[in-house]
Amino acid sequence: MRQQTGRDIAPATGKLGVMLAGLGAVSTTFIAGVENVRRGRALPIGSLSQMTTIRLGKRTDKRAPKGKDFVPLADLKNLVFAAWDPIPDDAYTAAVKAGVLERHEHLEPIKDFLQNIKPLPAAFDQYYVKRLQGTNVKRGKNKRELAEQLRADIRAFQKSAGVDRLVIVWCASTEVFLTPGPAHQSLAAFEKAMEQNDQSIAPSMLYAYAALMENVPFANGAPNLTVDLPVMERLAEERKVPIGGKDFKTGQTMMKSVLAPAFKARMLGLSGWYSTNILGNRDGEVLDDPESFKTKEESKLGLLEHILQPEVYPELYGKVFHKVRINYYPPRGDNKEGWDNIDIFGWLGYPMQIKVDFLCRDSILAAPIVLDLALFFDLAHRAGLSGIQEWLSFYFKSPQTAPGLYPEHDLFIQQTKLKNTLRWMMGEEQITHLGIEYYEKA
Ligand SMILES: NC(=O)c1ccc[n+]([C@@H]2O[C@H](COP(=O)([O-])OP(=O)(O)OC[C@H]3O[C@@H](n4cnc5c(N)ncnc54)[C@H](O)[C@@H]3O)[C@@H](O)[C@H]2O)c1
Repeated sequence: MRQQTGRDIAPATGKLGVMLAGLGAVSTTFIAGVENVRRGRALPIGSLSQMTTIRLGKRTDKRAPKGKDFVPLADLKNLVFAAWDPIPDDAYTAAVKAGVLERHEHLEPIKDFLQNIKPLPAAFDQYYVKRLQGTNVKRGKNKRELAEQLRADIRAFQKSAGVDRLVIVWCASTEVFLTPGPAHQSLAAFEKAMEQNDQSIAPSMLYAYAALMENVPFANGAPNLTVDLPVMERLAEERKVPIGGKDFKTGQTMMKSVLAPAFKARMLGLSGWYSTNILGNRDGEVLDDPESFKTKEESKLGLLEHILQPEVYPELYGKVFHKVRINYYPPRGDNKEGWDNIDIFGWLGYPMQIKVDFLCRDSILAAPIVLDLALFFDLAHRAGLSGIQEWLSFYFKSPQTAPGLYPEHDLFIQQTKLKNTLRWMMGEEQITHLGIEYYEKA
């Protein structure tokens, strides 16, 4: 049954510009993937926006349209891309170097298209990403000037590409670990700090500021603070722009957010979880720097505690030893291997072990997330939603939440939240899974 309370959603007319900070493995796998899909050469596997169905009404109603036919999302054919990167390689060269996609099958046939995507000079500072050196960088007398140049890039792209709307997704490197400070508390303090080249203002924050000032939604795929700051949250609310992050939930953490809820559902105890990875791409190289790794580590460690609630279940989860390692190992390239050793205990405290060995492909898992975030952030904007988009927690390792709320990490709760939000937007009933009406006849 359709309710009468759906949101007013502006139609997805015209083109949607997707601007990416970073034109590395994830970005090029995303862009090349979309183009292959548009040309009918591949399927958008892993993308909810393109593949999932959504049940509406009772099970017996048998209504389950595809998500993209249910909500007015931008069509893939209307996406136009731009990117910033301190490394001047065009999207074709960057994709070949990243070595994720099979060159002859997925890159050569779209070579011209990819070569046309050349990175704009980045707002970049090696202090924040120690293992990179960039030549394609903006110059300015202070950080505020760099932010103004980013704003000008956004406006210029909107005009030159003739796009109606824009979204920005941070797919650039993980920056060194920072904590929120005085410069991040208000717009006035932030702008002053930019002018003074304050070290607490990382380049990713300049992109976030530029996006919000230009009324462009911003999603953060790395664990940097970026939009997870009081100043950005307030700015997003004031300017009615959606924001969200942080850190794409792809391989090992996705598995964790499935397994940990299963242990908790069965009331099985956990004494330790040791996770290690070998990874040989540029991201792995950047994360080899202890300061960038610290940012990633924080993002990867948080979820077990939130899912398992040791304060509620001290006998089961009060003494969990949780360790995460990432080891840079070039021979594997983007094909990461993530091992998990999980020590659980059951009835009367008897120990058991689970071993997970996930031979995944990092960017293959991340690319559809970039697509979904771009489309859903654009949808949110057209639906008049602003500030933190908690319903998109599904895609993030450490989901941003309103102050005072704990993040929801369980993948299936996140999925229910996402689909229920789409139902709510369209004025459809929420699915409660009660189902008593099938058994209690009137
Ligand atoms: N692939 C995954 O599964 C996954 C999962 C979660 C998060 N991430 C994050 O996504 C990001 C991208 O991953 P990747 O594998 O594509 O890495 P990558 O190293 O291949 O690409 C990142 C690109 O960002 C560029 N860059 C660095 N600083 C920049 C700046 N200030 N402005 C613009 N560009 C900048 C780099 O030059 C590089 O080309 C990383 O932060 C990574 O931690 C990836």
